This record gives sequence, structure tokens and C-alpha cells, in this order.
Amino acid sequence: MQLRVVSDQPWDVPADLLAIPFTDEPPLDGLLAPLDQRTGGELRVLTAFGELKAERYAAALLAGGECRAHRLLAISAGSSDSLTRQVVVRIGSAIVRRLANRKVQTLAIWLGDLADRVEGGAEIVAELLARGVVEGEFDPAALYRPSESGSEPSALTELILVAPGANVPALTRAAERGMVIGEGANLARGLANRAANDVTPEVLAEEARALAERHGLSIDVIGPEKAAELGMGMFLAVGQGSDNPPRMIVLRSGEAGATDPAGRRLALVGKGVCFDSGGISIKPSDRMEEMKMDKTGACTVIAAIATVARLAPGTPLMAIAPAVENMPGPHSARPGDVVRAMNGKTVDILNTDAEGRLILGDAMVYAEKLGATHIVDIATLTGAVARALGDQMTGAFGTPQAWYDQVAAAGDRAGERYWQLPIIDEYRKDLDSWYADFTNTGLPEGGLIKSALFLREFVTVPWVHLDIAGTAYFRKKTPYAPPGATGVALATLVELALAGASKP
Ligand code: BES
Ligand code: ZN
Ligand code: MN
Repeated sequence: MQLRVVSDQPWDVPADLLAIPFTDEPPLDGLLAPLDQRTGGELRVLTAFGELKAERYAAALLAGGECRAHRLLAISAGSSDSLTRQVVVRIGSAIVRRLANRKVQTLAIWLGDLADRVEGGAEIVAELLARGVVEGEFDPAALYRPSESGSEPSALTELILVAPGANVPALTRAAERGMVIGEGANLARGLANRAANDVTPEVLAEEARALAERHGLSIDVIGPEKAAELGMGMFLAVGQGSDNPPRMIVLRSGEAGATDPAGRRLALVGKGVCFDSGGISIKPSDRMEEMKMDKTGACTVIAAIATVARLAPGTPLMAIAPAVENMPGPHSARPGDVVRAMNGKTVDILNTDAEGRLILGDAMVYAEKLGATHIVDIATLTGAVARALGDQMTGAFGTPQAWYDQVAAAGDRAGERYWQLPIIDEYRKDLDSWYADFTNTGLPEGGLIKSALFLREFVTVPWVHLDIAGTAYFRKKTPYAPPGATGVALATLVELALAGASKP
């Protein structure tokens, strides 16, 4: 898809379709008046008819009238009071999804109303819309049947962002950045959606190798023998139940030992459970198929470092993805097994379904061994976070607060939502064990907090934990996304890694 930014008036832009996002009631006496005139008053008629509602993402097709675009798509961005960066991204996606399988090759989008209402103006709106358009093209239906009708790759050949009077070079750069981030999100989604009989830990490692080659990253893939030498007893305990051997995937960019412009050696650590059956503590069969997406954290950090390599090559950064399959079988870890983590702590595995924290613990110890000064881990870790926050808000923990605040600020820039949850020290004693330094689960009360308390045992540097169990994938389609992996947090991690390299 080619990108072009034009500073012409929207009605002067030739395209197959011109999309017109608006906030609140369509401003027919204001910004939209000249467009309404050129549709012969059709915008006004459709509004009176009830077709152009202020309901967010509702969209109506119109003839182009005297506009140079053949057709128009008016789309509501909802109330301006609740307009956020995330809504702008989703408007971009909703436009593309509304036009799926329509004959549109050149798509123009007028920035108008949005640019006036979002902090950062036309430049940030161009970035977010372009990102949304790319994300809107993502279609998991095409994954295993690429040639079937209705699942063809999008026919869009050109995206034209229309911003009258804009600084065209600056908006072009911003939109290009948005497209690269959108492609990064789609890369993560494409991997995360893949089935467990397709993406084993070794296949995920192969995908990482291909990306490393393409983007000039260094890669190291640790198998069970080396992991045993390194003392990764928790990681090995989870992986040992499957015939598909575990892989600790380590991607790095930048000079060895170098710090980034913000003085950090940042490590992104992502949970890569290619299938989570629960192991011996087996899960109920209801919705167990979703557990093929329990590798989403890993897919996200792998895609994030590849995206950073495209936007700012050479930035010092690590992505560590412990990849395993959590299966029951004669070699599986059992409830009550005691294992030794890489930092020497012993763990009493009470529940083999609390496996994410085990593999992340060893991965974070390893990140520090490789010199990480700051860690963000991302994981589909607990059903509890999904029950508490649903699929729109990622639960987050962090210490010290100043580091959490930096990650949250990156999330704000990216237009993603996080809710900080407390680390409550009093609950730590519930993880005490008779046989080991601690257990991997306790009583269910406060279980979400206990998952963070467990992880905290394996870090000594500033650390943030993002629990994406609720937000990693949608169960149903929305106007802006199909069911399946959402790409959540990719943009946040990219913003975080790039911080210091540019702005604040
Ligand atoms: N992968 C699951 C968490 C999950 C649940 C992700 C639902 C996405 C949707 C995780 O490994 C798990 O099984 N967690 C247990 C922990 C419990 C045994 C302490 C859970 O949340 O029930
Ligand atoms: Zn899991
Ligand atoms: Mn589990």
C-alpha cells in the first residue's frame, strides 16, 4: 500500500472513496458544510433519516456527488469528550473493515475533525489513522485458507491522508511510522493466531530467526541441554511434558553492553506458551482451544524488537521469549514437584497450570544475566485479570513507580489502556511452602496480585508486568477488529523502546 499525504481540500482529492470521520453530531453547519453541499445535501438527509448516528464506528456510504472521490464514507468517531488516541486508530481500522470486499483501491481519509480534537493535531492523527488502516487490513480468516473468497488480501493500493494546509513532509513521516507500527502489530497477531499444531516452540524460534536475519538482529536459541546448564529449572519443568522441546528465544539489537539513549538496557520478556492445556492440573475443555494464543506475549516482544529495528536500527534492546508447550504426559511436572530456578530459589509447583510465571521467572533472571537494567514482561498470565478488566484494559504492575510511570506514558502515546494494580506485600506469605522457598500458587483470593508477587521474586531491576490475558484476543468481532489476536501492547513496547531515542 502506497502512502500519500495531500494538503488539498477533501472534495478536490481523486480517489475511489473518501472517508469522513466526524465527532458528535455531524457538524453540518461547520466543517462538513462544504462537503454536504457537494453531496447535494445528502449528508443532511442521511442525518435526518437516522443513518448518520453519533454512535462510535457507525458508518454510512454516499455517492460522491461533486467531490472528486467516487464515493464517500461518513464514519462516526463518537463523542468528542471521550475521543482518545485509541479511538483514532480504531477509526482507521473500522474504515477498512467497513470496505472489505468492496471495490476500493485508492482510499482517501480526511483528517479534518479529528486533527482539531486530538492533542498533537494532524501529525499524530496521521500516524494513528495510518496505523489503524494497516491494522484494519489484518484478516485471520485468510490464515489457513488464503484463496477462499471473502478472505482475500485487501485490494487497497493507496492510502491518501487529506489534511488541508498541512506540513506534508512531517505528516508523511508520521504516517509512515504509524504504518510500520501497524505492520508490527499485525506480525504479532499473525503469529499469535496460529494453531499449536503449526507453531511449536521450535517453529516460533524459526520465525524469530527469519526476522533476525531480515532486520539485522542477533539471535540465540537455548534448548533443553543449555537451559539445564544455565539452571533454568522452572522453564524446563514446564517444557518437559511435551514432545515438542522448549526453546528460550533471545533476540538482541545494538552493540553488546551498550545502553540506549535513555541510559537503559531494556529487556522485553514475553510468555510463549504455544499451548496451555494446564498440564497435569489440566484445564476444563470449555474454550481450551483459546490456549493456542497463550504465546501472545512472546509473539509481541518478537514483533516489537523487529519493529524497533525498522524504525531505529541499532537501538540497544533485548527480547526474550521462553517458548514451551504445557502438556500432560508421563514426563510432565507433577503438582508437588520442587524445582530450582536460575536464581537459585526453589519452587514448589502446586498447580502446573500456573506455568507462565515459571517460564517468565527464569527468562527474567536470564535477562538480568545478559545485562538488562529495566524489564517489561508481557503475558497472558491469569484468567483473573480478564474477569476483572475484560478485553479493553490491560492489567499492569510495576516497581519502582517511576519506571511504571514511564511505561504508562509510553502506553498513553501509543493509545493503549493500562490499569495499574497494586503489589500487596501481605499476600506474599500465602505463597510460603513447607518444602521450598515458595509455591507457584496460593489461595485464589487476590490471586492476580500473587501472580505479580511470584514474578517479583525473579527481578532485581526496575520491572513492569503487563497481564494481557483479557486483551490479547477478542472472542467476537468488533467494527474495528476481527476475532482473534489484537496486537495489544505492541505499540506501547515500541514507544517505550524508542523513548529517549527521540522525544521526552
Ligand atoms: N494461560 C492461562 C491464563 C489465561 C486464562 C489466559 C484465560 C487467557 C485466558 C494461565 O496459564 C493460567 O492457567 N492461569 C491460571 C492460574 C491459576 C492456576 C493460579 C488461572 O488464571 O486460572
Ligand atoms: Zn498459560
Ligand atoms: Mn496455565
